[in-house]
Amino acid sequence: MANQYEVLGKAPGPEDLKKLSPKDVHLTIKGLNAGYGKMEILHNFDLSVSKAQSLCLIGPNGAGKSTILHSIYGFTNIFSGKIEIDGKEITNLTPAEKLNSVGIAYILQDNSVFPDMTVEENLLMGGYIKDKQDEAYEEAERIFKKYERLRNRRNQPAKVLSGGERRLLEISRALVMKPSILLVDEPSIGLEPRYINMVFEILTELQKNEKKTIIMVEQNAKKGLEFADIGYVLVSGQTAIAGKGDDLLKNPDVGRLFLGG
Ligand SMILES: Nc1ncnc2c1ncn2[C@@H]1O[C@H](COP(=O)(O)OP(=O)(O)O)[C@@H](O)[C@H]1O
Ligand SMILES: [Mg+2]
Repeated sequence: MANQYEVLGKAPGPEDLKKLSPKDVHLTIKGLNAGYGKMEILHNFDLSVSKAQSLCLIGPNGAGKSTILHSIYGFTNIFSGKIEIDGKEITNLTPAEKLNSVGIAYILQDNSVFPDMTVEENLLMGGYIKDKQDEAYEEAERIFKKYERLRNRRNQPAKVLSGGERRLLEISRALVMKPSILLVDEPSIGLEPRYINMVFEILTELQKNEKKTIIMVEQNAKKGLEFADIGYVLVSGQTAIAGKGDDLLKNPDVGRLFLGG
């Protein structure tokens, strides 16, 4: 990785990370080595997040941010290390098991709405894996009650939605499974500024009112750190700096490298 990041120094240890999420720890990653095929992308990576806390991962392209979300969800090869939820190891569960039994939902980075299906059909796709279909329907109704933007377009093809409404539908589709942890990869990507604010407001509401734990990757470091309680700066598969979102926003190295300051 480029020399400009060397100033960031050595990785904070698990004890430093624990201080940022001292109570009600929800998810932890311990000493994770993971990647694709035989290639290791994450090196001895640690993470800790409390219930209803939000964590934002920032860092240069290719640092391994998405790979962290992939590893939590089960899309990578894990060479060693552990992932735990509520102190219970989940490292080797399949994505379906993660969604169904431990309540982790992954919100895709790419545009994954089916344009010719209705908004309602798209929403119900989120429950396809759920054993109890009735529950998925109930949850979909609750979502329509809550989000007028989706309710008004319920029976129209999803292609009529604005960019921001599409992102809302992608988030809502994950909510049908009633997850307790949301993994969100670059929610602001490709959105006009006014929709970016809308998406962060929606995520803030899900964290504060519905007590979701949120682990997010965000290229827009300023927005991501303003939103999140805590942030990690990832460089070459390791955490270079970890801190409260507000503190990272004030950190001169973070400012210079990631906030255009
Ligand atoms: N599916 C994949 N197969 C092989 N290599 C991958 C795959 N996805 C990402 N990588 C590689 O892993 C590294 C980290 O990528 P990624 O986690 O997507 O970075 P970031 O999200 O921080 O931009 C990069 O070198 C990338 O090329
Ligand atoms: Mg990425």
